[in-house]
Amino acid sequence: MSLNKKTALVLGATGLIGKELVNIISEKEEYEKIHLLVRRPIELPSEICEVHLVNFDELPKYHELFKVNDVFCCLGTTIKKARSKEAFRKVDYEYPVEAAKLAKENGAETFLIVTAMGADSKSVFFYNRVKGQVEETLNKLNLPSLHIFRPSLLLGEREEFRFGEKLAERVSGVMNKLMIGPLRPYRGIQARKVAAAMAFIAQSNKKGNNVYHSHQIDSIVGSSEWKKV
Ligand SMILES: NC(=O)c1ccc[n+]([C@@H]2O[C@H](COP(=O)([O-])OP(=O)(O)OC[C@H]3O[C@@H](n4cnc5c(N)ncnc54)[C@H](OP(=O)(O)O)[C@@H]3O)[C@@H](O)[C@H]2O)c1
Repeated sequence: MSLNKKTALVLGATGLIGKELVNIISEKEEYEKIHLLVRRPIELPSEICEVHLVNFDELPKYHELFKVNDVFCCLGTTIKKARSKEAFRKVDYEYPVEAAKLAKENGAETFLIVTAMGADSKSVFFYNRVKGQVEETLNKLNLPSLHIFRPSLLLGEREEFRFGEKLAERVSGVMNKLMIGPLRPYRGIQARKVAAAMAFIAQSNKKGNNVYHSHQIDSIVGSSEWKKV
């Protein structure tokens, strides 16, 4: 690693946020190498990226790859895609927690993760509960610098068609304009904005456990600092 440049590792690089994130950080001069952990072959997004085809059930086998400055976790699934609550929990809880432990053991300085608005370990809703549980476990790991991003509905072009989300996105296009004042936090947010906020916060040197709600994510990239991202 050269003196001033950083290295990163991205989990979930093929997803809506993950792809945007890789595009953004591979153009940032802060990074000299970005490791992408994926479960299926992909095209190399940039020359500074290195793609690793891995079995996520065996993450500790790839511990050497976690010797980076910043670890970004954009993993996630839906119960429909995962086909069971157990399989969902694996992707949204077990893999991120394992990744965070490996990041800590290998001296990564920053761990950044996307959870979701409404994350609550006591929620009656399974999705929100798992998101809350992953946050709770990560908060207890004493990571040097933990950043949790809780977006509302994600807007952007997906490869796969998700009827419910597409419908919500259409409605959100109209509703966002009406969502002002106390309703502002519920506005849909562009996946690229979330990715940009993650990229920006990774350069902030902020320590400890930090949470960013959807409207705060929106403000991070809406500020003048955004020009630096
Ligand atoms: N959708 C929303 O409106 C919304 C709102 C708030 C928060 N979130 C959360 O934001 C995060 C990112 O969302 P997104 O929409 O960008 O996600 P996404 O497009 O569904 O991408 C998810 C990523 O996780 C990977 N993944 C899924 N199952 C896996 C498995 N079994 N093993 C290894 N990798 C697996 C995917 O890989 P493949 O490409 O190989 O499948 C992909 O890279 C998620 O945690 C999501 O819950 C979503």
